[in-house]
Amino acid sequence: MTVLEPGPGMGFFTLELARLVGTSGRVVAVDIQPKAIERLKRRAAEARLLHVIDARLTSPDLTGVDDLRGSVDFTLAFAVVHELPDARRFFAEVAAASKPGASILLAEPKGHVKTSEFDSELQAAADKGFKIVDRPSIRRAHAALLRKTLSN
Ligand SMILES: C[S@@+](CC[C@H](N)C(=O)[O-])C[C@H]1O[C@@H](n2cnc3c(N)ncnc32)[C@H](O)[C@@H]1O
Repeated sequence: MTVLEPGPGMGFFTLELARLVGTSGRVVAVDIQPKAIERLKRRAAEARLLHVIDARLTSPDLTGVDDLRGSVDFTLAFAVVHELPDARRFFAEVAAASKPGASILLAEPKGHVKTSEFDSELQAAADKGFKIVDRPSIRRAHAALLRKTLSN
């Protein structure tokens, strides 16, 4: 599988994602903070997972993933969409990078993101062709599993 992880930070989830996809998969992790990318690369090297993890610096609008067009199976957007300047633009970029039928796990911390704000994020995702297929329970988080519909 090819996994896209916007806003990995220091890689709390990235190393586990890399273990899950295995040596035939890859995790493309993109962050706007050079220090986060440096630290993530160091941790990936220490865990001998650098060959699976492609850690990249991006701009706030999630540029620099054009080469992924139509190739992503799964996107983990954990505690990041509320930090972005434009959720609609973000979901448009993810839709372009994703295969038909690809999924996104969208999760936001309840402490930072109101239910109404999370609902707006879900609407932005729906506008770009992602429909809700599950509402997993994640402690102290709003969460939804979304799937890219074939029609968009
Ligand atoms: C709250 S942290 C979450 C880190 C990680 N996803 C986690 O849950 O442990 C948010 C991360 O998103 C990154 N970020 C903020 N705006 C971004 C953007 N426009 N594109 C990519 N990453 C961004 C920040 O630099 C930070 O590393």
